[in-house]
Order: sequence, then structure tokens, then C-alpha cells
Amino acid sequence: MIDLSELRAAARAEVHVSRRLFLAYGAALSSLPLLGSRAEASTRRIAFANNPFSLGVASGDPTDSGVVLWTRLAPKPLDPDGGMPAEAVEISWEVANDDGMKQIIKTGKAVATPQLGHSVRVEVEGLKPDRWYWYRFNVGDATSPVGRTRTFPALDIMPEKLRFAFASCSHWEQGFFTAYQHMAKEELDVAIHLGDYIYEYAGRENLVRKHAGPKLRTLGDYRIRHAQYKTDPHLQAAHSRCPWVVTWDDHEFENNYANNIPEHAGVDPVEFLEQRANAYQAYYESMPLRPNSLPHGPNMKLYRTLPFGRLATFQVLDTRQYRSDQPNNDHASELNEAALNPKNTLLGEKQANWLKSALLTSTGHWNVLAQQVMMGMVGYVRPDGKPPLYSMDQWPGYAAERMKLAQFIADRRVPNPVVLTGDIHSNWVNDLRVDDRKPETPVVATEFVGTSITSGGNGTPVVLGLERLLAANPGVKFHNRQRGYVTCTVTPKSWTSDYRVVENVTKADEPVKALKSFIVESGKPGAHAV
Ligand SMILES: [Fe+2]
Repeated sequence: MIDLSELRAAARAEVHVSRRLFLAYGAALSSLPLLGSRAEASTRRIAFANNPFSLGVASGDPTDSGVVLWTRLAPKPLDPDGGMPAEAVEISWEVANDDGMKQIIKTGKAVATPQLGHSVRVEVEGLKPDRWYWYRFNVGDATSPVGRTRTFPALDIMPEKLRFAFASCSHWEQGFFTAYQHMAKEELDVAIHLGDYIYEYAGRENLVRKHAGPKLRTLGDYRIRHAQYKTDPHLQAAHSRCPWVVTWDDHEFENNYANNIPEHAGVDPVEFLEQRANAYQAYYESMPLRPNSLPHGPNMKLYRTLPFGRLATFQVLDTRQYRSDQPNNDHASELNEAALNPKNTLLGEKQANWLKSALLTSTGHWNVLAQQVMMGMVGYVRPDGKPPLYSMDQWPGYAAERMKLAQFIADRRVPNPVVLTGDIHSNWVNDLRVDDRKPETPVVATEFVGTSITSGGNGTPVVLGLERLLAANPGVKFHNRQRGYVTCTVTPKSWTSDYRVVENVTKADEPVKALKSFIVESGKPGAHAV
């Protein structure tokens, strides 16, 4: 039975929170100078003391006719305002057919405003499908590096091949971004980042590098952290070589948060949502996202669909912003009643319904879920013979929704479903069933979990108890705990995932190693070692 008094109390609390948030925002907004229109933007030729393009350039979210170009002006990247004056500045941009920027085919102007940290997003339209382009920005007396980007093939075309990489979990302090360095040298059509692009922790001594500033809370804190990461030449190189498609996990805001619920109790709910608004805005400012992701207060829509012709359709998910609280206090638990509660949700109702519609209308031959947390229901065996333990921060904590989604994919015959995952700083290949605890049932999808770029520091090729883990989880085909990324080659006939690892990330410029490859044949869910 529904307890009405409880519902009313919850509703009152929500109204109270949104009213306080509204007042907080009203105050913040009224203190902003009225800036931003083209007419008011500074057109004077600014002479910058330092390079305003210290954060490089990037592009993202390609369609068959356009792409979004990004930069953020920051002559002093570790200042909260990037070292920019509190005025709007006009930037010009150019798109060319060649890397020498000789054959310029499109130009335009954009305004970088102080409200958005002098970041710009240019939605270039009217490009030809399935083509490479080059671009750059100009402001004052400064010119940006040239970036390379591309459009995706037309929606009615079956491309012969797609080559992309996916990555996650790049911790500044725990290693050099050598994996990005190698990713930048791969010939990729697109790079996908599955979250933990930054970490929110305060700077610590005696690590490979040191975070600037305290644990992140204010907009200035988050801006500085994003800017510090973007000063990395290897990250810049990876961004400048191909378009990126990004989504976040928890550390872009705070560890293991669930919607508006912090990991630890005792945080003021309004302050927490204000902090979320700061984190989301800085993320928006720092990523090549389309303006339709512009945050509204503490909310920002990141889930979206990206079709690569008819070959593959990417559904990019957000499993942090709308999720219900982790059951069992987020401690590894048996799949008990709390974990199996059908009310638990990682996607939230709106996103879950959108995802179903998106999967039904997809014309992709491969249907990819680009998301954060592991979908494989991996049970960790206990030496005492008790039932295995599952991570409550991952899909097993939301097992009913997880099984319903897998059942939906199977029932509606969504072609060739593949799940891409980050989050847990380790490599996995999982055959997914509706219920992974029933190995006698058919495999309905394949999951590739990619390790971290640096998080966790140097990994290890040896996993203690691996045999036992694999024996207890027949869906798991591979597991490894080294650093790196995954390159995928997709054709109408097959999907190949190549696991690349960097053995030492605490030393710069180390080599990358091809560790292992797995193939999925079209029409046959499940991975096989090559
Ligand atoms: Fe992470």
C-alpha cells in the first residue's frame, strides 16, 4: 500500500529544494553582466600575452551533414576565468578540405562569453557525408592549431567499415596520458569517452602529477580542473585527430553519486545540487557537445543517438543523473530483494523510454549502447561458499531494469546489440544473457568493458583468483587489469575489439601493446577470442 503521508512529505521536501535552488539561481543570474550578443562582443584585435588556445581544439557529435567544433579561450588555464576579461569576445572559425587550410569551404563567427568561460561550440552544417575536414579558430592576433574532423556516412548507406576507440577514467595524478598518445596515432573515425574524464579530488603530493586546487565544489574549481586536464598535449592530440562522442560517469561531479544523492550522508541537498550545476556547466563548457546539451540549472541532457550510416547506431547513455540510490548502501551484496527491487533505476523513466524508442527506430546493423557501468552480472565468489557478491553501483544493483532491458532487446530482435562500458579500471569481455545467472539460456548481447587510461596507476597482468572468477561467471570471456583503451573495427559481417595496454603509465612515452582481440559475428551475439 502506498503511504500517502510519506509521499506528501517527499513532495514538500522537493518543492522546498527547488524553491531554494531557484532563489540561489536568481541571485547568481542577476549578478551577471548583460553580455553575449554579437553587437556587444569585442571585435578589437586583442593581443594576448599568452596563447589563448592553450586548451587546444576539439570536435564532436558528427552527423552526415555536420559536426560541432569546440575551443575555450584560456590564456591562463589555471585561473578560474582562464585569464580572460569579463567581456564577450568574437572568434572566427574556418573549415577546409585540406590539412594545409588552403581550400577553405566554410567560415563564420562565434561569440565566446564570460558566462560560459569563453568556450565556443560551432555547429557546422552543410558538409558532405563521410568526409574528412580540417578546422581552426582565430581570435585577436592568435590562431589555433588545426584540428581534423569528419562527417558520418549518409543514413541510407551501408558503409564498409567503421573504426573507433573507446576510453574512460583518465586520472591526472595517477599516470601520464600515454594511452591517449597512442590513441591519437590510430586512424579512427571517432573516439568515444565513457566518463571519468576528470577526477574531482584535491591535489595530492608524491604522485605522477598534481591536481590543481582543492576538492572540486565551485564552478571555478571545476573549470580549472578541466582546463588542467586539457593542457595535456596527448589529450589535445587525441581530440584534434577525430571527432569525439563523450558522456560522463560520476567523477565529473562526485564519486558514486546517484542523481541528487551524494555518496555520504550529511550534505545539504541544495548545496549538492548547486555543486552539480557547477560540475555540469564546466563539463558542458569543456566538451565538444552540441548546444542542445546546455545545462538548465543542475540538469543537463546528455543521452542521444548517433547513427554511422546504416552500419552502426550509437545510443549514448547517462547512468548517473537520473538513477535511484544504490541499494544495500552501495556495498557489494548478494542479489537480494533490495538489488532486485523493480523500482531501482539507472536510466530513469524518461531515458529508459527514450532508449526503447531509439532502439525500435534504429536502422543500425550494430546497435551500440555507449554507457558507463558494467552490465554483465558478475558475481564475486566468496571463499566461505556463501552466495556471490555483486557491485551495487553497477547494473546488478539495478538488476530488474537490467534484465528487462536485455529481454526487450531480445524480444524486439534489435540487431547485433553491443554494450560499451568504462568505470571499473579493468578490461572485460562479457556475453550477456537476460539473466547472467542462467548460463543455459541464450546469449542476447555482447559487452566490451574498457580499462582506464591511468586510474589505478600501473595495473597488473596477473589477476589473483581469475580462474575461480571465470569458472563462477561463464558469461565472462576475458578479464585483465592493465591500463589502456579499446579499438573497434566494425563491418557488416563482424565486430572486432582490440584491447590495447600500456604497461607503465608512471613513466612518459611508454609503448602500447596489443593484448588480445575478440570478434563478434553478425547475427551471433557473444564474443570469441581471435
Ligand atoms: Fe574511474
